[in-house]
Amino acid sequence: MARVLIVEDDSSFREVVGLALKESGHEIATAANESEALKALDGGVDLALLDLGLPEKESGFSILDEMKKRSSTVPVIVLTGEKDMASHVRAMRDGAFDYVTKPVDVGQLERVIERALKPNGEPGTGEAIGLVARARTTPLEEGPLSELLGESPAMREVFKALGLLSASRATVLIRGESGTGKELAARALHNFSKATEKPFISVNCAALPGTLIEAELFGYRRGAFTGAERDRAGKLEAAEEGTLFLDEVGDVPLEVQVKLLRVLQERKYERLGETDSRPFKARVIAATHRDLEAMVREGRFREDLYFRLNVATITLPPLRERREDIPLLTERLLGEIGREIGRPMEGVSVRALDRLLTYDWPGNVRELRNALTRAAVKARGGVIGAQDFAFGQIEAPDAGGASAEAAAEAVSRFPTLDEVEREHIRRALARARGHRGKTCKLLGISRPTLVRKLRKYKIDAGPGGAGTPVPGAEGI
Ligand SMILES: Nc1ncnc2c1ncn2[C@@H]1O[C@H](COP(=O)(O)OP(=O)(O)OP(=O)(O)O)[C@@H](O)[C@H]1O
Ligand SMILES: [Mg+2]
Repeated sequence: MARVLIVEDDSSFREVVGLALKESGHEIATAANESEALKALDGGVDLALLDLGLPEKESGFSILDEMKKRSSTVPVIVLTGEKDMASHVRAMRDGAFDYVTKPVDVGQLERVIERALKPNGEPGTGEAIGLVARARTTPLEEGPLSELLGESPAMREVFKALGLLSASRATVLIRGESGTGKELAARALHNFSKATEKPFISVNCAALPGTLIEAELFGYRRGAFTGAERDRAGKLEAAEEGTLFLDEVGDVPLEVQVKLLRVLQERKYERLGETDSRPFKARVIAATHRDLEAMVREGRFREDLYFRLNVATITLPPLRERREDIPLLTERLLGEIGREIGRPMEGVSVRALDRLLTYDWPGNVRELRNALTRAAVKARGGVIGAQDFAFGQIEAPDAGGASAEAAAEAVSRFPTLDEVEREHIRRALARARGHRGKTCKLLGISRPTLVRKLRKYKIDAGPGGAGTPVPGAEGI
């Protein structure tokens, strides 16, 4: 049994969660704002649940800060309805034990609490918590996407790792297939670190032959080699006390690997053609899509450098292993693409989404982005249809696979009322990402009516609803 503090402005939420936790034997204290929360904390609690979405935007984070200052050992589990990477990363960086997304699944919440109350509970490394697919409510951001997007359990684990590691200066190795967002992850580590005002310097090790990488990294003295017409600082220097991002580190030639190792070990280096050492002060983040272990076995990557780089690892999951992120990515990427091509894009048709969801995406998010861009350019209106896609070998199950004649016929024949209703329900389900409650709201019908119609039209909505990526509790 533990004394659990619930900090949350919504009284019904406090009650429901409070009751559930009481039933499992905990003692409950509640608070609706910062001063109440701190008072309760001073009174002694074993664990706190903190809602990040309190009325004033900053107050959740300021309470977290204040709580950690006053009593750093009380684990704080953050509750949030937000989907953006920033709040997840920031909460973990600022000392939250873990976070649980709303709507909260009480069973999962209890498991996190149990883990937090264990003497040596590991922060943020459990199952990903409480994901229920639902439509996005935050407005589209302007400008290019600079954030990793994702609401899948796998991406939430990535956000947690980014949060925990952004607070440290440890070397991080980011792994993952091409196009999975390794560079965005590296930038996030920098942007959420204390060195965010310092430079983030990126070196693409695959783009340069060995001699040029050296010149690029270490800098040189005038006359050090033909063409070195003046002294030049290298990227190690330019990174100052910020972050040096070694992209595609698996492609560094062996003769440069040994020099890199020395920089990491001794934290000093010389410009080419100079003998005086200079200090190296930046934090190192490296990324690769290569199988470094195999390269070590084959003698193509130095084992000692591998161990130096592999202090902490973040692995980005391939898109095909987190297909539930495809609708969100599509929506956000299309918003950005629409701005780029100067034509607002509303979305994709149900059939087009089907294709996106079933394709394997060997090029991951980058390939998705490219496919959407090409399709958006091709699409006549603001909505992309299945026929606008040209990726892969797969054929759309219906229209795309049919002969041109049949397709023309399908378009020209006047649809029956039932056909229209069926299609409309499918669209609503897709828009609500399979969430039945939301679908009912969109359609203005009750749940039993929806269930009846799903049966009538044989729409396979799965246990939690059509296309619901993660079946699970509807939450509170
Ligand atoms: N989870 C994600 N959310 C949003 N955008 C993403 C995500 N992952 C990748 N992207 C986008 O996909 C593209 C490729 O990302 P990035 O360059 O970070 O991948 P990478 O893993 O470094 O790939 P490579 O190994 O080919 O260099 C970028 O346009 C990036 O914005
Ligand atoms: Mg990259």
